[in-house]
Amino acid sequence: MLLYLTRRERFNAAHKLWVEEWGEEQNKAVFGKCSNKNWHGHNYDLFVTVKGQPDPMTGFVMDVKKLSGLIKREVTDKLDHSNLNMDVDFIPRGLQPTTENLAYLIWKQLEPHIEGCRLHCIKLYETENIFAEYYGE
Ligand code: NI
Repeated sequence: MLLYLTRRERFNAAHKLWVEEWGEEQNKAVFGKCSNKNWHGHNYDLFVTVKGQPDPMTGFVMDVKKLSGLIKREVTDKLDHSNLNMDVDFIPRGLQPTTENLAYLIWKQLEPHIEGCRLHCIKLYETENIFAEYYGE
């Protein structure tokens, strides 16, 4: 019996999607408003899903308070109110801080710390209409 448990956390951050080798026109054509030279922000919704068997005593796949604390310590405390292009130790300089790349990097941050069950999915919403998912593949 495999159960999936999800915790949502939120953070706000600034970024810019930009390729130096391209001109302003091409950056705008590819990245749209996310290429704004003077930065802009998003209100991100992060969904972290773990999977496992419920503990026979607690009924928990994982203590969700512990999961929340872990996400805050390893991920959202570092991302919240940051500049994703410049400020965050686990985002390599020069990597586009897209929703896709962030979902992957958040997985890498969290996965080694999950105990007693397994990380299943990182789902990250950049807007209510756009999200990326990573399943560790
Ligand atoms: Ni953007």
